Amino acid sequence: DDTKTGVKGLVDSGILNVPKIFIRPAEDLAADELNSSQKTIEVPVIDLSNIGDSIRRKEIVNEVKIASGEWGFFQVINHGIPLSVLDEMIEGLRLFNEQDLELKKEMYSRDSAKKVKFHSNFDLYTSKTADWRDTLQLTFLDSDPDPSQMPPVCRKSTMEYFKHIKRLGDALFELLSEALGLQPDHLNSIGCSKGCSIVTHYYPPCPQPELTLGVRKHADAGILTVLLQNHMGGLQVLHDSQWFDVHPTRGGLVINVGDLLQVLSNNKFKSVKHRAISSHVGPRISVACFFSGHASLLDKPFGPIKKLISEANPPRYEEFLLKEYFAKFFASSLDSKPPIDYYK
Ligand code: SIN
Ligand code: FE2
Repeated sequence: DDTKTGVKGLVDSGILNVPKIFIRPAEDLAADELNSSQKTIEVPVIDLSNIGDSIRRKEIVNEVKIASGEWGFFQVINHGIPLSVLDEMIEGLRLFNEQDLELKKEMYSRDSAKKVKFHSNFDLYTSKTADWRDTLQLTFLDSDPDPSQMPPVCRKSTMEYFKHIKRLGDALFELLSEALGLQPDHLNSIGCSKGCSIVTHYYPPCPQPELTLGVRKHADAGILTVLLQNHMGGLQVLHDSQWFDVHPTRGGLVINVGDLLQVLSNNKFKSVKHRAISSHVGPRISVACFFSGHASLLDKPFGPIKKLISEANPPRYEEFLLKEYFAKFFASSLDSKPPIDYYK
């Protein structure tokens, strides 16, 4: 029953020390010590204004190509989603997580078939340690969200956000297609922007942030992730074997290549490891929208896009079934061997 109150429940109970299950392995903590040099470069920020202008569009496509190939991460600004929609999404989640515990417990579940649920650490029973965050998960693979399933405090804001994020997803997949040298509609036509889950995280303040992480090091398993974060910061990206902070940009959204886009692009785009650190101050709130492909893709062979394959560029992956891929992903923990490694 303890886990139903989430990490926030622990904090509210007044704990002064992080419980043992949240403490990172000693070798992990030691590795961080080696990793604290000065950084003078930043994750690219791409301005999407005037995206319809053909000269500007070419420049944007080029920036997307470089960012996706070298960092696997970029931020977008002037993406067309009103600031009020972003702010209300974050505020709705704050209200959800800070509402009466009994109401939150009613939504608690670890049932994978359940589309809307509150929990803490999806891999709690398969991983050695736990991370310092609570999660409200909203999964919509081939259908639009059903408002009646949404928690009332964040229903309106989430529906509104979802509508905008779908549109942005289409626009991003057009840019990514062009960046791969394909027709603009290529990635959309194979269903990339169709299946989407929204996973929202609430990272409470932590009494001993140096001992634990908000989300431990991992790469995203889907095709593309669009991340909204509040002003707290904490997201870090691994680049040239060093951790780089992704500084929150007001009104910006963080975009990252997932493992499946790395496969589709035949390694032209990189899916890069990232994590979120904990902090004495909080809450940090984030909203990850994972585009994972239309449900009809689950039974079809999935692999590098044929047009990107040539004698000089042989396929880096065998074809596989997404159904099996996702089964592997959900049966393991965030820090175990990523499912794409089985198909290399
Ligand atoms: C994640 O990568 O799963 C979450 C990242 C974040 O909250 O910034
Ligand atoms: Fe992630």
